Amino acid sequence: MIRTIFFWILLSAVIPVSLTWASHPEKKVEGGLEFLPLCPQARTTPNAPDEFRKLRNPLQPSPENIFAGQTLFHFDAKPGPCRVCHGISGNGLGILFRELHPNPRNFTCNQTMSTLPDGQLFWIIKNGSAGTAMPAFKNLDDEQIWQLIHYIRHFSKEEH
Ligand code: HEC
Repeated sequence: MIRTIFFWILLSAVIPVSLTWASHPEKKVEGGLEFLPLCPQARTTPNAPDEFRKLRNPLQPSPENIFAGQTLFHFDAKPGPCRVCHGISGNGLGILFRELHPNPRNFTCNQTMSTLPDGQLFWIIKNGSAGTAMPAFKNLDDEQIWQLIHYIRHFSKEEH
């Protein structure tokens, strides 16, 4: 009896450890979930007109502005929150991404995001990207778009 119990205790300790090791010998995968976003990400989005591309974000990246952008991104933006396509962590892997070609922008990719001026992001958010799933957010006022841009930029900052 004692030997049977001992055997089962031993087995229940050994099986999970060996399974984890066998499937991912080099790396422990939290919760079995790991899906690496594309970076750099190929991009065919049209360029905004020059007068937009030279715009800089006029708002301070204050906690209040970033928080307002965050609320729009995850919940309030219409026709739909950015999160469903761009992902809860901004990596472009939102729940809809498998249906979308081209894929949503991966905001965590500094190599791609650092090439895009504030005014480019502003113009695409306001007008959408024709022929793709990226909609025009006509209901947002300019201040809300700049708040969103501060939030989007935080995904590719090093301290994030
Ligand atoms: C229905 C899906 C969808 C939603 C919702 C959505 N996006 Fe996008 N977004 C896309 C796709 C797809 C692209 C890639 C477009 C392309 O390749 O031209 C994109 C691209 C972008 C870009 C890249 C612009 C560039 O020049 O590269 C920005 C910025 C952006 N989205 C911001 C937002 C913000 C902010 C929101 C919410 C207010 C949002 N998106 C909501 C699908 C979406």
